[in-house]
Amino acid sequence: MLKVGIVGWRGMVGSVLMQRLREGGDFAWIEPVFFSTSDVGGQAPAEAGAGARLKDAYNVNELSALPVIITCQGGEYTKRVYEKLRQSGWQGYWIDAASTLRMQPETVIALDPVNRRVIDEALNRGIKTFVGGNCTVSLMIMALGGLFREDLIEWIYSATYQAASGAGAKQMIELMRQMRHLGQVADESLSNPAVTALEMERIVTAAQNSSDFPLNDLPAPLAGSLIPWIDTAVDGGQTREERKGHVELNKILQPEKEIAVDGICVRVGALRCHSQALCIKLKRDLPLNEIESILRGSNEWVHLIENSPQASFKELHPARVSGTLDVLIGRVHKLRMGPEYLGAFTVGDQLLWGAAEPLRRMLAIVREWLE
Ligand code: HSE
Repeated sequence: MLKVGIVGWRGMVGSVLMQRLREGGDFAWIEPVFFSTSDVGGQAPAEAGAGARLKDAYNVNELSALPVIITCQGGEYTKRVYEKLRQSGWQGYWIDAASTLRMQPETVIALDPVNRRVIDEALNRGIKTFVGGNCTVSLMIMALGGLFREDLIEWIYSATYQAASGAGAKQMIELMRQMRHLGQVADESLSNPAVTALEMERIVTAAQNSSDFPLNDLPAPLAGSLIPWIDTAVDGGQTREERKGHVELNKILQPEKEIAVDGICVRVGALRCHSQALCIKLKRDLPLNEIESILRGSNEWVHLIENSPQASFKELHPARVSGTLDVLIGRVHKLRMGPEYLGAFTVGDQLLWGAAEPLRRMLAIVREWLE
């Protein structure tokens, strides 16, 4: 049994991680020690054994007794605890969902279906801090895995359609409140068989712009609308989310020559799946059927969806993918710009491959390494 400290297991990513650990039977080899920042002494989950209590997540002595810690508690927690723990001489493995440590030189971004080689080399070099990647980046790399493996990509432009879950649990709930509010204001006109679409739109737009529209956690109306800005501003007119596309992808894959990644990140009214419309510049012209076969072989989770209306309606959307480990890629076709330009649309669960699953798998890799 491997003793593992688990922090932030009650939040959204943490709950999905717990669900995956349970589904995967991982508690058969994990001896979990559950920590809390707010309920120290409270009852720990059943996996910790009868009567087990929650330990103090800020107590460096308690934490440093463990060979492995996995945290979904968030960036503020990592900032507050990680350095102290390392400075105390702790030599354990730290597996983290937060972005805080991602770009530090001594950390590796874990996405083993595509960068197992980078992870293994890091373990051999004594690296002990592994961080999950940004959700959009991880999902994009999963979807295009085969094209990266074959070194076929020169650059990527990505227009994202990011779900409310990426902003947080409160934002997901507010999106549903906004939807309910719009449903309520439109209810009377919807019951009127003579209503016109434009009359209803006028009522909805007025509601979205009125002061009683639910708008505390999201920065702008999302239900029936979208928000073309995610995270803070950085240099060059980009958002931080957009910059992560380039820096994280190159850190994850460590290609010989940097792959330029840019785009515009947009929040949409999906609940938990991130989608992306991609424009890819290939290093050379390849027949479409060859590209499709490479994409199909990316990894066991990627499914290539036929570029047809029927298949796209049936498969290629958040409602189909939510709660599954499938990463779908469709609408694959050559673009008008030239034979090396490829268009594609991909969708995957932001909380699974975009957050919890790479961490769960990293934990299993650490276990293998320690055995
Ligand atoms: N930053 C992402 C988003 C989620 O806002 O959708 C975390 O990877």
